Parts: sequence; C-alpha cells; structure tokens
Amino acid sequence: MSNKLVWPAHTTNLPDFRTDPAYANGSAYVDGKIVPIEEAKVPLLDWGFLRSDACQETISVWDGSFFRLSDHLDRFQRSIQRLRMDTAPVERADILRVVHELVAVCGFRDAYVQIIMTRGRPPIGSRDLRLCLNRFQAFCMPYMWVASPEKQEAGMALHISRRVRVPPQSVDPLVKHYHWLDFEMSLFEAYEKGADTVVLSDLHGNITEGPGFNIFAVIDGSLRTPSSGILDGMTRRSVMELCNELNVGVVEEHISFERLLKATEIFLTTTAGGIIPVSSVNGTTVGSGAVGEQTRRIHHSYWHKRSSGWYGEPVAYIPKASFVRRSH
Ligand SMILES: Cc1ncc(COP(=O)(O)O)c(C=O)c1O
Repeated sequence: MSNKLVWPAHTTNLPDFRTDPAYANGSAYVDGKIVPIEEAKVPLLDWGFLRSDACQETISVWDGSFFRLSDHLDRFQRSIQRLRMDTAPVERADILRVVHELVAVCGFRDAYVQIIMTRGRPPIGSRDLRLCLNRFQAFCMPYMWVASPEKQEAGMALHISRRVRVPPQSVDPLVKHYHWLDFEMSLFEAYEKGADTVVLSDLHGNITEGPGFNIFAVIDGSLRTPSSGILDGMTRRSVMELCNELNVGVVEEHISFERLLKATEIFLTTTAGGIIPVSSVNGTTVGSGAVGEQTRRIHHSYWHKRSSGWYGEPVAYIPKASFVRRSH
C-alpha cells in the first residue's frame, strides 16, 4: 500500500443530474417544502432554537450514495423516543423521500444531509412542553470535512481540555443533540494553544469525544476507544466492523489523559471526513508524527469499501430531461 492516504476516484457513469443554480449551495426542507438553503428559516419561538431542544442525524452522501441511511434513521428514531418527541410523528418513508429529493434537487455527488426534529413551541403564554408540536426539518449542503484531505495527511493537532463534557447524568449522549457550548468554548481554548480541535474529559478525567467526532488511539500496542459518555457514532461503529474484518482487536475502556499521551497513533472518526489522523496532543507528537500504520489501514479500508457500495444507497437523482422548476 502507498504511504499516502488514498481516496478512491469517483465513478463516471452517474446520470445527468438535475441542477438549478438556485440550489448551488444546498437545499432545505422546511414546513413541508423544499427550498434553496439560503431561503430556509426557522421560527424564532421554536424551542429547538430557544432551548437547544432538538435532535438530529447527519448523513453523508459520497459518489452518489448515502452511507448507512437505514442505520441513521434508526438512530434518529431512538433520539426522538429518548427526547419524548412524539407529538408529530414523521413516517420513515417520508424522511426517505425528503432526503433523496434534497440531494437530487442540488445534484450533489458528495453531500452532507442533516435531518432535525425540534420541540416546536407551546401556545403563547404557556411553557408546558407537552403542548409543543414537534417539527421535522432537513437540509443538504456540499460534503463537509472536519479536516480536508491535505490536513488529514498532515494530521490534526489535538487539544485535550479538562473541561467536562455535559455528563450523561444530565444529557443523554446517545441522543444526537445540539448541546455544544462545552465543545465550542473548548475549541476557543484549543485555538489559543495552536491546536485544530478538541476532545473533552468526563467527571473522572477520562477522555470522551469532540465536536462531531469520536476518538481511537493505539496504546500499548492495542487499538482503544472510550467506552462511555459518548455518542455511538456511525463512523465509530463502521471502524469497529472494519477492525473485526481486518482481525484488529478494539478495546472499549476508560482512557485517561495521561494514558492518551502514551499513544503511538490517534485518529478521529466522523461522518464529516471519515478517519482523521492526529499528529499531536497538547503539543506532544503522536508516534513519529506521521500517519500511523493502523490508521492508514483503517482509512484505506473505510474509503475503499465505501467506494464499492458498502452500506450504500444510491441517491434517486432526477435526470435533467425531467427537470421542472418549482413554483414555490
Ligand atoms: C458528539 C458527537 N460525537 C460523535 C460524532 C460522530 O458521529 P458519526 O460518526 O455518526 O458522525 C458526532 C457527529 O456529529 C457528534 O456530534
């Protein structure tokens, strides 16, 4: 295998996509309509906005195929149930139709699709959240990278913050939610220290996760990942499955900051970029500083399998011939 990170080439036989310049930056589904992303607006009084009372799924499309769409919809359903958002159920078939149409209307081959359920709002004068009508919304944008391919090759500079991630006793980490102020304030801390991104600790000083990613590390020769206080990321799950196929053991356990400093390899996992190598932690170089062997192998396997249709569902693109401009 080359010692460069490799992304498989895109296929060339995709259909002539429907494209409208109004959708060049993306699309959104709000109030039952698909609109260009810049026209999408949320109601000011929705508690998704006023209280961060919302859950979401972020799904990637690569080379014209959704990844693990069905698993994402299952996890979305789990979040909805855990947040008791049952006042306006949305059918799985409707979500499927919306996500396909959002990508198709833009004609993006690589995309980033987010589906969101917000609490909605109670009647004016009330704060009774049982009276809220939940709202389903979604959007699609061009594919987003937590770290560009060039940055991945160089490796991310990671900062481990002693700031505690909102504890599972307070907010359920298995709900994919928007409680990100702890991440965001720590990101400023990371930037001030010259790092690219951050991972937060738990109440006992063990590492958890970062803004939009899980973390893996090779310590004492074994691949390890935090066992609790985290979202069960879809990419994390994919890495576990790949490691199983590659006969690489993965230990899920508590990892202290001090132990992480002994890692010879570290990588982050996220829908927004896949497997992202880390080259330093709090100023200490990880291994030789170059992308490690295990990381490269898993990175290669992840993208190679994705390009061969692994968990893929092709987007139902609309050929240009049947393109009709929407009146709304
Ligand atoms: C807090 C948190 N942890 C982990 C992840 C990674 O999850 P996935 O691999 O499903 O993108 C995310 C994704 O946004 C996240 O928000």
